[in-house]
Amino acid sequence: MSDIKIAPSILSSDFSRLGEEVAAIDKAGADYIHIDVMDGHFVPNLTFGAPVVKAIRKSTQKTFDVHLMVAPVDPLIDSFVDAGSDIITAHVEAGPHLHRTLQHIKARGVKAGVSLNPHTPIESIKHVMDLVDLILIMTVNPGFGGQSFIPLLDKIADARRMINATGRDIDLEVDGGVNPQTAKDVIAAGANVLVAGTAVFKDGPEQYANHIRSLRGE
Ligand code: DX5
Ligand code: ZN
Repeated sequence: MSDIKIAPSILSSDFSRLGEEVAAIDKAGADYIHIDVMDGHFVPNLTFGAPVVKAIRKSTQKTFDVHLMVAPVDPLIDSFVDAGSDIITAHVEAGPHLHRTLQHIKARGVKAGVSLNPHTPIESIKHVMDLVDLILIMTVNPGFGGQSFIPLLDKIADARRMINATGRDIDLEVDGGVNPQTAKDVIAAGANVLVAGTAVFKDGPEQYANHIRSLRGE
């Protein structure tokens, strides 16, 4: 059993059958369900809010990995906790008070993640490492599925070193353009959670399990 976790992004699923799609990736071996929340402001696309997260909570018991691409983020945290999120990830770039945001997430009893856009230096999270349970490195500019991988392998390796220095069990997740080829490099650089939208959903439900296995390198 591989210790790599796969987090299919439902952004690439068939929204007209969202509950069935979530159940299908659960059955196909997904570890986390990656939920991309976009506000049409922080990123140039609009997806779904907490009521949709609550609705699909009925379709799986797996970890809900909620990636908030919204600004401001603080006013929305409680509604996503109440909807059944297990991990809530906020962007470094989404506001001036990242430390407060992470404290808020932790105070609600869920795991706190922090995400960095491609240009944001890893050093920007140095002083919040004690508050994070997950670091999400964006390898595309957030907003859309199906973009090409930006090879930020040094950044992933730096994040792994920072995590190891804490001695804590912090997930290192990579999001954007991950496919079986780029997954190899991302894992070698130190990531342990791979987000994938296109690479999981591209050929329909019969292939989800095969695609998830390929991402693990099996
Ligand atoms: C991009 C999202 C990603 C996206 C990944 O803004 O955060 O999770 O769905 O899609 P692929 O795997 O197609 O690059
Ligand atoms: Zn995402």
